[in-house]
Amino acid sequence: MSSYRRLFLEHVAQTSLNPIGLEVSRASGMYIYDHQGKAYLDFDSGISVSVLGHCHPAVVEAVQKQAAIYMHTMVYGEHIQSPQVEYATLLSTILNNGLDTVYYVNSGTEAVETALKLARKATGRREIISCKNAYHGSTIAAESLRSDYSFSRHFAPGIPEVHHIAFNSEEDLHLITEKTACVILEPVQAENGIITPRQTYLQKVRQRCTETGTLMILDEIQTGFGRTGHMFAHQKYGIVPDILLIAKGMGGGMPIGGVVAARQLMMELAQQPSLGHITTFGGHPVCVAGALATLKTLSETDYIQRVTQKEQLLHSLLIHPAIRQVRSSGLMMAVELISADLLTPVISGCLEHGVLTDYFLFDNRSFRIAPPLIITPDQIREGVHTILEVLDQVSEKINL
Ligand SMILES: Cc1ncc(COP(=O)(O)O)c(C=O)c1O
Repeated sequence: MSSYRRLFLEHVAQTSLNPIGLEVSRASGMYIYDHQGKAYLDFDSGISVSVLGHCHPAVVEAVQKQAAIYMHTMVYGEHIQSPQVEYATLLSTILNNGLDTVYYVNSGTEAVETALKLARKATGRREIISCKNAYHGSTIAAESLRSDYSFSRHFAPGIPEVHHIAFNSEEDLHLITEKTACVILEPVQAENGIITPRQTYLQKVRQRCTETGTLMILDEIQTGFGRTGHMFAHQKYGIVPDILLIAKGMGGGMPIGGVVAARQLMMELAQQPSLGHITTFGGHPVCVAGALATLKTLSETDYIQRVTQKEQLLHSLLIHPAIRQVRSSGLMMAVELISADLLTPVISGCLEHGVLTDYFLFDNRSFRIAPPLIITPDQIREGVHTILEVLDQVSEKINL
């Protein structure tokens, strides 16, 4: 056992008893390399993070440059820092839908926390509605949004007055009432195994929220930054939320998140009480510099326009008797196998053969494909070829 592996197991906290344990030496473009120099084709993007692949030159340059100019100067929201101003201005131009103000945070779950506080404060209501089988993060409030109590009971009590509706159920929308502060949902349910919204579902949620004065919070933490073939998925589905949550792909590999809303709504966090929501490191200039380079690169290249073409190529290649179904929204994809027993052998086999895929939290039959948007058709063929070979081997072992 290498000394790093041993020290990792001794001194770095683990989140499961079976960590993937890939010893990272470096990463570049579509590949992560271990200490033996073995290359792993990244079909996962560190769970929908590395939209531009690893160490994209524009991101690296922006981060290095900013780190040499200034890093932390003051807790968030006090000093005027050009990366924050430039990013928020560019984002509001790209959104062009009234969501013109960004509150910067450090992660997705912090964006969720911020949005829940904003919604309660702005509406004076307490009730929160989220969707069954949604994942919004791991802090106590975000955890409370999880519908699976057999999981969250270990951390109970969560925050009160959270109710759940079924994603895609128009019948459940009557549960959104004048008592509801906010509805929080993903445009495409990611951890539930890529469940896309039925045609008018998101419009109906929007409509019901407007009727009841409820704020619609759209969690685009996985779907944002081109993943679904649009800069943001709500653009694809023709709705505008009251509050948009972003993180993951936002930083191009740097840790950052944001809450985006109209200025008037966002001002709720600035007064009565003043300093009602604060963060030391949110919007750290080096992270925002990385985010700005990412956003500029995504807007100035055709990576997003080519997502659908790559999605179709994946669909055309992912054909195997062990595959029951492939669900996708752009380059977020769930490959459902005919048996849950195949899942771990397939994901482990792919890792062994140099292709990184991943599990979903709430779908034990499917593995995730969510490569960086920079992936080429040849790299798609290379990765799928390995996946199909692994499926052959695993199927043979269990006499499929
Ligand atoms: C849809 C969604 N929301 C929120 C989160 C939480 O984000 P973070 O892990 O950055 O706190 C995640 C993380 O996987 C997510 O997928």
